[in-house]
Amino acid sequence: MSRLTRKRGLITETSPKSTISEAYRRLRTNMAFSNRDGALKTIAVTSATPGEGKSTTSANIAVAYAQANKNVLLIDANLRKPSQHHIFELSNHYGLSTLLTERSEPDEVIQKTIIDNLQIISAGPIPSNPSELLDSLSMTDLLEAAKERFDIIIIDTPAIMTVTDALVVAGKCDGVVLVIRAGKVKNDMAVKAKASLEYGKATIIGAVLNHVSG
Ligand SMILES: Nc1ncnc2c1ncn2[C@@H]1O[C@H](COP(=O)(O)OP(=O)(O)O)[C@@H](O)[C@H]1O
Ligand SMILES: [Mg+2]
Repeated sequence: MSRLTRKRGLITETSPKSTISEAYRRLRTNMAFSNRDGALKTIAVTSATPGEGKSTTSANIAVAYAQANKNVLLIDANLRKPSQHHIFELSNHYGLSTLLTERSEPDEVIQKTIIDNLQIISAGPIPSNPSELLDSLSMTDLLEAAKERFDIIIIDTPAIMTVTDALVVAGKCDGVVLVIRAGKVKNDMAVKAKASLEYGKATIIGAVLNHVSG
């Protein structure tokens, strides 16, 4: 494990015994519990505003599932400010953007990681039309195909209050996890974000209160 990854907050890998890792595992367990009918396979992770911890949370949930021997795909659908290739130290020359514009094949963009059972589609080069790409039939088809091949698909997204992307992705997923940064976001922002998700018919399966100190 390199210092870079440690710095980037992959705590479930670097400190699996810590209380924070335990919290991610509990989240995984709760999510599995809501999945009793087996329908919950694609999970979007979002928040009201940027910097609340979506990327950190999605990476750690993905690792927690992989550690439970699930075959996991993590997709970076924040096409505007991608993070997962930094967190996992992967290439971002190809990824979701090149896949959705048919410049790559699925097998070319799915990257292995240092974590067994965890593969990643990074965001790829920043496209000019992120919302449109995420709203496409190709994105729906990708998620359907991934469901055949993986046990669980975790999708990192941009913040809800800034652009439409997260709502678009959430609408295509079985469930959504809402990350809320303690103290940073006024409650009404989180409430508005939740209302937007519900209006878009997304199923909120959990909320994570992040950056809680003490
Ligand atoms: N629980 C946490 N404790 C401390 N720092 C955190 C925590 N969660 C995220 N961070 C840090 O906060 C910053 C923003 O997190 P990030 O996951 O990139 O947010 P987002 O994807 O929502 O923009 C990053 O530098 C990340 O390392
Ligand atoms: Mg992010």
